[in-house]
Amino acid sequence: MLQKRTGTPARTVGWRDPGFIHTGFLKELWPNSLYTYRLGHRLFNGTYVWSQNYRFRSSPYPGQDSLQRIIIFGDMGKGEIDGSSDYNDFQSGSLNTTKQLINDVENIDIVFHIGDISYACGYLSQWDQFTAQIEPIASRVPYMLASGNHERDWPGTGSFYGNYDSGGECGVPAQTMFYTPAENRAKFWYATDYGMFRFCIANTEEDWRGGTEQYQFIEHCLSSVDRQKQPWLIFLAHRVLGYSSCEWYMDEGTTEEPMGRESLQKLWQKYKVDIALFGHVHNYERTCPVYQSICTREEKDYYKGPLNGTIHVVAGGAGASVLDSEFAGIQPKWSLYRDFDHGFVKLTAFDHSNLLFEYKKSRDGNVYDSFRISRDYRDILACSVDSCPPATLAS
Ligand SMILES: [Fe+2]
Repeated sequence: MLQKRTGTPARTVGWRDPGFIHTGFLKELWPNSLYTYRLGHRLFNGTYVWSQNYRFRSSPYPGQDSLQRIIIFGDMGKGEIDGSSDYNDFQSGSLNTTKQLINDVENIDIVFHIGDISYACGYLSQWDQFTAQIEPIASRVPYMLASGNHERDWPGTGSFYGNYDSGGECGVPAQTMFYTPAENRAKFWYATDYGMFRFCIANTEEDWRGGTEQYQFIEHCLSSVDRQKQPWLIFLAHRVLGYSSCEWYMDEGTTEEPMGRESLQKLWQKYKVDIALFGHVHNYERTCPVYQSICTREEKDYYKGPLNGTIHVVAGGAGASVLDSEFAGIQPKWSLYRDFDHGFVKLTAFDHSNLLFEYKKSRDGNVYDSFRISRDYRDILACSVDSCPPATLAS
């Protein structure tokens, strides 16, 4: 593990022996069934020490029609519950988010933390603090990651951005401590199915542009889902590849990571991605269904029938300070709701035709923004601009 981490502090003052990190696989579980488990360790004298008992519900099978509740956020980090100071005391908002999720864990089925996970940034003990903070959640429901700049970026190591944000970790602790069903865990992009959902998780810290291996993966993930069985198609990534009216993008004359939207919006449109969610910007913003910066639907909170575009959401306010992510004074037309506060997103699929989206503030767990999608499978087949091949049955 040490050899692959390439910089300081991860290889110097931030390093400590990580001990053994185990990954256990539970095979042939029945879908949607309640299991209990405990973790044990055999001592030299042959006796065992056991953890408390935990329980979890196994995932629904792909296409299963049942209530499914998904939590999504980015940029959470950890905080000091006793108020003592942290070397990088930047994510005290994470304590409220964690508390709300623990309080509601009976009503959560799976969590996606889409990059900027612990903000350990090369100080390995900070990962222990983070995993301890999320243990009541991660021991109960799948805790899925996407890779962010604070996990991966380091000059000269193949990251798309050559900055020092990972503190020399280069993605190694994140990809070792958490399991992702990626073909190559170092690359960190993967597809995962949860009941009526297909999630395509991209890695913005590796090149995504047309012609790259990651672009091929994204297209394959989006195109290979049977929407009749899994109608809800969700794209997740850390940096904003879609739309954000954060000041630091708009001051540069843009509303996204350069080469994000221009590379990927054709795929989102062609394969009818319902919602694309991003972190990195520490606030909340929700767009209309949009394509090429034009709203494809006028409604704000209820979409019946085809969206004709993708709804883009920034949900990077889970814990890291919002103070570096102010909104620009101008609110673009595609931006429907902006919140400069800590919060997270919950998706609830009631069945194959009804999806509820909610944005909750971390301070009180209440809903401050929401919309519903209500549609029939035929609505997903419907053509709109660039979503169907330019072909005709006439000859
Ligand atoms: Fe980030």
